[in-house]
Amino acid sequence: MKITTNFLSIFFIAFFFISCESTNSPDKQISTYEDAVNFSISKLNTSLNEVPQLKYPIRTKGFGEWELTESSAWTSGFYPGCLWYANQLVKDKNLEKQALQFTEGLEDQQFNTNHHDIGFMMLNSYGHAFEQIGNDKYKNILLQSANSLSTRFNKNVGCIQSWNGDFQVIIDNMMNLELLFWASKNGGDQTFYDIAVSHADKTIENHLRKDGSLFHVVVYDANTGEVLQRKTHQGYSDSSAWARGQAWGIYGFTMTFRETNDKKYLDAAEKIAEYFINHLPSDYVPYWDLNLPENDDRQYKDASAATIALSAFLELRNYIENTSKYDDLIEIIFNSLFSDYISVNTNTSGIINHCAYNCNSKNPYDWDASTIWGDYYFLEALVRYKQLN
Ligand code: GLY
Repeated sequence: MKITTNFLSIFFIAFFFISCESTNSPDKQISTYEDAVNFSISKLNTSLNEVPQLKYPIRTKGFGEWELTESSAWTSGFYPGCLWYANQLVKDKNLEKQALQFTEGLEDQQFNTNHHDIGFMMLNSYGHAFEQIGNDKYKNILLQSANSLSTRFNKNVGCIQSWNGDFQVIIDNMMNLELLFWASKNGGDQTFYDIAVSHADKTIENHLRKDGSLFHVVVYDANTGEVLQRKTHQGYSDSSAWARGQAWGIYGFTMTFRETNDKKYLDAAEKIAEYFINHLPSDYVPYWDLNLPENDDRQYKDASAATIALSAFLELRNYIENTSKYDDLIEIIFNSLFSDYISVNTNTSGIINHCAYNCNSKNPYDWDASTIWGDYYFLEALVRYKQLN
C-alpha cells in the first residue's frame, strides 16, 4: 500500500482530538490519546487483582483472563515493563511499587543462560527500574544478565544462539542486543558491544532478503559458521515474511542504529519497514504473515506486530531527514488500534486484542488473543508519542 506523507504532520497532532468511529464498541469509544492512556492504566490496575506475585502474564485465554507463567518464560519482563511504562505515563506510587515487586521476582533470571530472551526479560523490567528509580543493585543485575546472554555467542558463527539444540538464530534475537549495548555503556566490557554488532551484521547477511523481507530462522553449522538452512517456525512458509518477525527486524535495526550510529543499520531498518508497509491491509494492522494467501483459513491479524512496528516507527522517524515520512503511518496505526483493537467493552484482561502468538499452533488461544508484548509495545508507543510532543 502506498502512503501519502505530506499532509500528515498536520493531522498527526490533530487526530488525537477528533472522535473516530468505533466498529466494535457501541457503548464506549477510545477516541483520543488521553482516552487510550486512561483505559490502559485502568486495565493494568484491574490486572493487579488477577496476577499474583511471581507469576507473569503471557497471553489471554481467547478473550478472557491472562494465562500465567513462571519467571523463566521469555515474556516475564513485559508485565513489569507495562507497569513501569504506566508509571511513566501517570506517576502513581502503587504502580511503581507493583512494578518493582514484579521486577524483583525476576532476580534469579540474571543467571539464565538457557535461551536468548534474557534481553527481553531483564531490560524490560530491571532496565526500567534502573532508569526510573536508579539503584546500583539493578545495574549489577543487568550487567550479569548481559554476561549470561553473551555465553550464547559463538565466534565461528558470529551470532548468539537463540534456541537450544541445532544452532538456530531467529530474527527476534535482534531485540536482545539492546541489553548488550546497554551493558557496554554502563560499565560492562567492550565485548558486549562487539558481540551485538557481529550478530546484527550476520543478521543482515543471512536473514535479510533482497526485497526487504526477513527469514524467521537461520540454522548454522556451529563449527564452520556455514548456513545450513533458512526456514520458519511461526510464519506461513519458509519463504514468506512472518509479520512479527518483520516488526522485530524494524525495531531491532532502528535500535542498533541508535547504539552504533552506523548507517547500514538505518538502511536495513528502512528497507524492512518498506516491505512491512507495502504488505499491510487497509487498516494497517498486519495479518500474522505478510504473504498469507487469501484462501488460507487462518485469516487472523497480529496486532502485536502493529504495536511493535508502531513503537519502532516512533523512533525511526527521528533518524531520517523527512521526519514526517512515518507520521502518517503512526497516525493511522494508532487510530486503527484505538477503534478496532483496544479491548474496550470486552472482558479480556489485555489492552490490545487480536494478536497472533503462533498460527501454526493447534491451540486456538495462540491464534487470536491479547499478548503481553502487544500491550507492552503499545504502552511504549504511548510513552514515545508523549515524549515526541
Ligand atoms: N519472540 C517470540 C515471538 O515473537 O513469538
